[in-house]
Amino acid sequence: MGRAGREIVKVNVDEVLEDLLKAYADEWLAHYQYWVTAQWISGIDADVLRGILLKQSEDELKHAEKLARRIMQLGGKPILNFDELLKKSGCGYIPPPEDPTNLKQVIEDVLKSERCAIQFYNQMIEKYRHTDVITHEIFEELLEDEVDDEEEWERILQKL
Ligand SMILES: [Fe+2]
Ligand SMILES: [Fe+2]
Repeated sequence: MGRAGREIVKVNVDEVLEDLLKAYADEWLAHYQYWVTAQWISGIDADVLRGILLKQSEDELKHAEKLARRIMQLGGKPILNFDELLKKSGCGYIPPPEDPTNLKQVIEDVLKSERCAIQFYNQMIEKYRHTDVITHEIFEELLEDEVDDEEEWERILQKL
């Protein structure tokens, strides 16, 4: 990023990078969690859930891409080593349930991840509102998507 681009960030860039990397790790782990769960589940209703999991898994990867772009704009690196993902993550990784037919558990775990992201992004929006306009906007876009995701899963859980 150029000089003016850095100058308009009114907080410590390293701190912004830490927050962006945390979100990046969360998004990547959610991407994998939803994807591997889609491969694993079986039983009645599994096909419906599989489609939604794969779609949202793709969306989380797109979120990770947005974050990676911002991280590099600020002179940072996305996470290059796999084991760093878990270390940097704030929301962590929830493996699919041992029982592949336990779809209620699947949905509850996804909701846990989505709600954790909603809480974190909401904090980030407040934090960067007046100090880093671009980072603030990225978190706003992500929050909107996660709020939609949560709503979708709540609806599915009610019908299950
Ligand atoms: Fe996401
Ligand atoms: Fe999501």
